[in-house]
Amino acid sequence: MIAFGAIYTASADEGMWLPSLLDGQTIAKMRKEGLKLKAKDLYDINKASLNDAIVRFGGGCTGEMISPEGLLLTNHHCGYGQIQSHSSVQNDYLTYGFVAMNREQELPNPGLSVSFLREMRDVTADIEAGVPRDSIIARATAGTHYKASIQPLYYGNEHYMYIYEIFEDVRLVFAPPSAIGKFGGDTDNWMWPRHTGDFSMFRVYADKDGKPAKYSKDNVPYKPKRFLEIAGKGVKEGDFTFVYGFPGRTQQFLHSEAVRYLVERGNPNKIAIRDIRLDYMNKAAAESPEVRIKYAAKNASVANAWKKWQGEMLGLQRLGTVERKEREEAAFEKWAVGSEFAGVTTKLGDVYKELNELQFERDMYSEAALGSEMLRYLSTPAARRDSARFYKDYDAKLDEQITKDLFAYLVKVLPASKLPKGFSAQSKPTEELATEFAKLMTNDKLLALNKELDSLYKIYVRGLRKFKPTKEFYPDANSTLRVAFGKVAGYTPNDGVYFVPQTTIRGIIEKDNPEIYDYDVPQKLRDLAPANMDVPVAFIATNHTSGGNSGSPVLDANGRLIGLNFDRVWQGTMSDVEFDPSVCRNISMDVRYILFIVGQYGGAQHLIDEMVIR
Ligand code: ARG
Ligand code: GLU
Repeated sequence: MIAFGAIYTASADEGMWLPSLLDGQTIAKMRKEGLKLKAKDLYDINKASLNDAIVRFGGGCTGEMISPEGLLLTNHHCGYGQIQSHSSVQNDYLTYGFVAMNREQELPNPGLSVSFLREMRDVTADIEAGVPRDSIIARATAGTHYKASIQPLYYGNEHYMYIYEIFEDVRLVFAPPSAIGKFGGDTDNWMWPRHTGDFSMFRVYADKDGKPAKYSKDNVPYKPKRFLEIAGKGVKEGDFTFVYGFPGRTQQFLHSEAVRYLVERGNPNKIAIRDIRLDYMNKAAAESPEVRIKYAAKNASVANAWKKWQGEMLGLQRLGTVERKEREEAAFEKWAVGSEFAGVTTKLGDVYKELNELQFERDMYSEAALGSEMLRYLSTPAARRDSARFYKDYDAKLDEQITKDLFAYLVKVLPASKLPKGFSAQSKPTEELATEFAKLMTNDKLLALNKELDSLYKIYVRGLRKFKPTKEFYPDANSTLRVAFGKVAGYTPNDGVYFVPQTTIRGIIEKDNPEIYDYDVPQKLRDLAPANMDVPVAFIATNHTSGGNSGSPVLDANGRLIGLNFDRVWQGTMSDVEFDPSVCRNISMDVRYILFIVGQYGGAQHLIDEMVIR
């Protein structure tokens, strides 16, 4: 079957490239597709370049500098935990949004930090020569306040050192109401067409010398080496775009047996377990505004992966990824006969056959046992437990209900020999039980098999690069800075349907329904809408993105900000394992909707005045 959308294949590009290695095939391809910049404009260790405007935001998102005064843009769902922690039933910023009308009103967020990548360096030779990592890092950061880490690429065939400058005083500046920032909620999540205003703003503060410092009222707004200008004219179908951010994890080289596990066992069971948790959470949230706020962030993250796993399974089944991988492995083996690579895919398969059972147990422990909030809490060593934080967002009755059903699930899917002695659906989370599960989870056999996998993948990937010498392989995402590029493009999700790549405020009004929580448009937006129906809200493009790319800037041919990445489309959620150019699209907020919400809706013209709009 040839999908109609396949005509866009030519402009769709799989890959997440290393900024320091663009100068070659990749930049040539980008320029051919429309980029006006040079490799050094994107990344240059000797002078300010685009990478200096981009940060890793908190644990798992991306953000970017959009003013000379340290103003930072990221997603609403990335700042969600912070917005929630400043919220209470009396002061409900989740529901009503938040605007700091001056610098004094900006809210500090203990524990939140942002990291700028100042340099990345290939240290493969040092690592292979046996130089200890600590000393490579110490040498590189001596006399600076920078922090570095070393990461394997291509399963350890290469190693890179990443040098970061980390700022710890990051304050909340702007959050739209959830009815805008999370419009469509989990109903629309991972879907197109989309109308979510998924953005929030923070400000990075530094000491008087512009250096990172812990929160202090004497700190001043940080003046970044580089900030992004805004492309006020926006985008249209066919325009070149690139995404610059921190994708978390892709698994393009995954063996057929591992994909089979994921599709047939891992995902279905993990989904079923989260069904249980979500049913109880949604019910409790509907009954109590207090529980709704307490569980807002937890609920969103449980629901997010739950839904993605479903789309991923469907996508991998539709693509026949298991069978395709089996064919590819067979072809590889045919080529590898007599070489050092011979038999590596067979060995991988054998390891998985042993590992998959252990993996299943582990998945069940971490999803079902540790899905009990109390058991998870008791699993942290007593000295590291933050009881104030835990109980602030905890509802005992809800957790007890969930725990009971999750424990029953464990009893159903695992034999007694794989569970703590005497464990039953009636067991209560205790410290002893937590210790028992911790013992079960540190399975030496599982560790040994995973180590074996790593060394086999290292050989397999090295072999694949020889097997297909003309193909440029990107290293799998590992939460380090990457560039992806593509075009604004629609797609065909189903026979007879073509999705155009842009949405507008008109669609928000079409979805408006005060009866449905996810589609209840704020009255103020209803009032503003008639005069602003054509304001663009979101667009899709062919950029290859992953979890962690949330909050990543989407840039035009001149490196100006046109959008804010926040999601992928339903038919493309399997792209961490297999990228299908005909349907894989990243979803971005249109920067014009951000300006509209900040200025016209939020009345925060002072923030817009800080930006440079061209
Ligand atoms: N799917 C997006 C991502 O993976 C958005 C998640 C937040 N939104 C939500 N409705 N839970 O982060
Ligand atoms: N929403 C995801 C995140 O938080 C990014 C979208 C994706 O996974 O593609 O990182």
